[in-house]
Amino acid sequence: MYKFIRTTAIALLLSLELASGSGVEVIKCNSIGQLEKVEVTGCESLPCIFERGQDYFINVTFTPNGNSSNLRFNATANVYGITLPLMAGNACDILADGQKCPIKSGVQYKIKMAAKLTKFAPPIRKLLIKATIVDEFNKIQACAGLPARVV
Ligand SMILES: *[C@@H]1O[C@H](CO)[C@@H](O)[C@H](O)[C@H]1NC(C)=O
Ligand SMILES: *[C@@H]1O[C@H](CO)[C@@H](O)[C@H](O)[C@H]1NC(C)=O
Ligand SMILES: *[C@@H]1O[C@H](CO)[C@@H](O)[C@H](O)[C@H]1NC(C)=O
Repeated sequence: MYKFIRTTAIALLLSLELASGSGVEVIKCNSIGQLEKVEVTGCESLPCIFERGQDYFINVTFTPNGNSSNLRFNATANVYGITLPLMAGNACDILADGQKCPIKSGVQYKIKMAAKLTKFAPPIRKLLIKATIVDEFNKIQACAGLPARVV
């Protein structure tokens, strides 16, 4: 388990191919679709600094490679080598601009999320957030790594 997490973290860091455009430059990770843009409230450069007690809005724009009737998202945080669940759910429910599932191959989609960072969270000097968007065939359509700090 430990070894797996370490390997994953290293793989993430090695694929330091940065997504550009406006939005924050994230670390790209393997996916069959194309990650276009990640926007996070108040984060223009890495690491993102998250303040406890604040609300955050996150947009992820991507173009799937393949059709899918459903879509899930899964965000985890790697803190000092341990992977913790952050958020997971149905990404069809949070598609922006009236877009709907099933999703179509080659069409650009945007998902919008909101999250509040509890004021009871401990400060964390260094964490790596990994978020994936997964289709009905369990294929990763978009993947992003986001180094962050909690203050
Ligand atoms: C997310 O996208 C909406 C438009 O759909 C925009 O108004 C908002 O500012 C974006 N959020 C961030 C954090 O960039
Ligand atoms: C996706 O569905 C469309 C029809 O809606 C079809 O024309 C296309 O070949 C499908 N693409 C893939 C990659 O399955
Ligand atoms: C999210 O991803 C983590 C790490 O890969 C995995 O352990 C967990 O089961 C996933 N959660 C969901 C709801 O898919």
